[in-house]
Amino acid sequence: MRKHIIAGNWKMNLTPNEAKALVEELAPKVQNSNCEVVVCPPAIDIQAVSEAIKGTNIQLGAQNVHWKENGAFTGEISAKMLLELGVKYAIVGHSERRQYFGETDETVNQRAKYALTSGLIPIICVGESLEIREAGTTNDFVSKQIVAALNGFSGQQVQSLVIAYEPIWAIGTGKTATSQEANDTILAIRNTIAKVFGKETAQNTRIQYGGSMNAKNASELMAMENIDGGLIGGASLKAEDFATICAVASK
Ligand code: 13P
Repeated sequence: MRKHIIAGNWKMNLTPNEAKALVEELAPKVQNSNCEVVVCPPAIDIQAVSEAIKGTNIQLGAQNVHWKENGAFTGEISAKMLLELGVKYAIVGHSERRQYFGETDETVNQRAKYALTSGLIPIICVGESLEIREAGTTNDFVSKQIVAALNGFSGQQVQSLVIAYEPIWAIGTGKTATSQEANDTILAIRNTIAKVFGKETAQNTRIQYGGSMNAKNASELMAMENIDGGLIGGASLKAEDFATICAVASK
């Protein structure tokens, strides 16, 4: 059984004090969740959040991670630094990083590989643009992204990480994929994993949906067989809404 995982990607929002206040509000609301509950604050907030979540069931994720342990990489953060603060997950290859910060399939692969071998669990993001969706080549496109991101991994490694399918046109637009569209694309991703790593690995790998998931549409999305959770942007900044999504994923 794949345990549902709900992760909040706070993106570039909230100061350390605001971040602390949000998790303090969130903690009692999600204490009975039967899914994994993860928050991914901006790097500068991680220390404050790490302290605030002690003794709760909220887990910590980063929004990015580098592929080396240390060195001359201005502005980057290593797995070792994150692990010292109790970080368990790291988002890798978010479309905003690909679009605005030159992230490529190759750097996504390097980051994910190093994160995993260092002891972090990467949440690898893939997803198509509106142009690709309208051209009808979504499954091909995301399958290529997945194969590239997982290049050099073992099946055992693949089933220990998390994939997030986030159609770019659904991110921050209020326009979510229909539950059927999301499920179908996630199934295509699972089939690609099956082809490369075998059926069992594909069955065990958790694949989230992300893109305008909120307290209202979460139950329809979470009811789909292939959707194993959500990567939540805007709605993760409101404790009430994020807790509602976690409750839905706990069923
Ligand atoms: P929204 O939920 O704001 O659409 O963002 C989704 C996302 O990009 C999560 O990583």
